[in-house]
Amino acid sequence: MPPVFSGGFIFLKFTLFLLKIACYNTICCIEAGRLQLNIAEEFTCLIYIVIALLVVALIVFVYVQSNGYNIVEYDLVTAKDIGSSVRFVMLSDLHDTDVTHDGNRQLLNSIESINPDFVILAGDMITSYMQSSYNSDVAFDFLKELAKRFTVYYGVGNHEQRYKAEPERFPGKYDKLVSFVEEAGIHFLSDSYIDSVDENVRIYGFDIPIDNYRRAVRTYLPEGIISDRLGNVDDNKYNILIAHNPDFFDDYVAFGPDLVLSGHLHGGIVAIPGIGGVISPQLRLFPKYDFGTFTKGKTTMIVSRGIGWHTIPIRIFNKAEIVSVTIRQDKKGETNGN
Ligand SMILES: [Fe+2]
Repeated sequence: MPPVFSGGFIFLKFTLFLLKIACYNTICCIEAGRLQLNIAEEFTCLIYIVIALLVVALIVFVYVQSNGYNIVEYDLVTAKDIGSSVRFVMLSDLHDTDVTHDGNRQLLNSIESINPDFVILAGDMITSYMQSSYNSDVAFDFLKELAKRFTVYYGVGNHEQRYKAEPERFPGKYDKLVSFVEEAGIHFLSDSYIDSVDENVRIYGFDIPIDNYRRAVRTYLPEGIISDRLGNVDDNKYNILIAHNPDFFDDYVAFGPDLVLSGHLHGGIVAIPGIGGVISPQLRLFPKYDFGTFTKGKTTMIVSRGIGWHTIPIRIFNKAEIVSVTIRQDKKGETNGN
């Protein structure tokens, strides 16, 4: 049973328990041959019924908020020669989730409806926990179907990184993942890049060190690590950097891409309208780069709220999302961020 359902089931049992208490006085009265409750008994029943109804309303609200997804569109402009326009879909943080409860078929159809030139995965397609509730077959089936329909570029997140960094805890998992995606025809970008020739786009995948995902402490990337691993951007191309954790935006800007794609924060799990996401996976409150676009110099960063979830299967005012990005060439030579 998916955790969101089991969580709802627990609340439902609690609600029934409250209703049982609410009816208790009535049943006692009937059994005692009294057909009417006194005022105190009526008031007690009323309180329990109101609480039970509020719990039911809360369950429905959380369920509706936590299920489904939006297609969020971004339009970017570049002065670079990309042959009029490029459209791609970005997904992050699937986390083994069957988003549409049908083996992700509806999710695949939604991506197809966007008619992208290619698809970019910005990490955490799998979940590197050992609980039985996470079934990587869900992610593998999705990746296989995705690769049948689209050209796919896959950058790694902290969960793929953990497979790699902790082989004693996850024996063979990283190698299995890499060989599976490569056999499926997916371009796995682990500290590497590839040129999408038709669109004059270069796509980089940067493996953020696993130490930079530590909780409750602020960490910093070693200076120059991105260019040490990936070289320098080619300014004749439109450069896209997949960097799963948006925390290091200044380092990404220094590397010099046109566009950075991140995820990881799941939009802060709960978002407060007008304020933003509440908490990051590093347990920092009100993270700066929670979702949406951020621009500095010539670099724009898009941070996805993610398409799935793990551990806390709840989203409030923070719908899961498919990101659709269209980049148009501006013949007048202007560039803008969104
Ligand atoms: Fe992540």
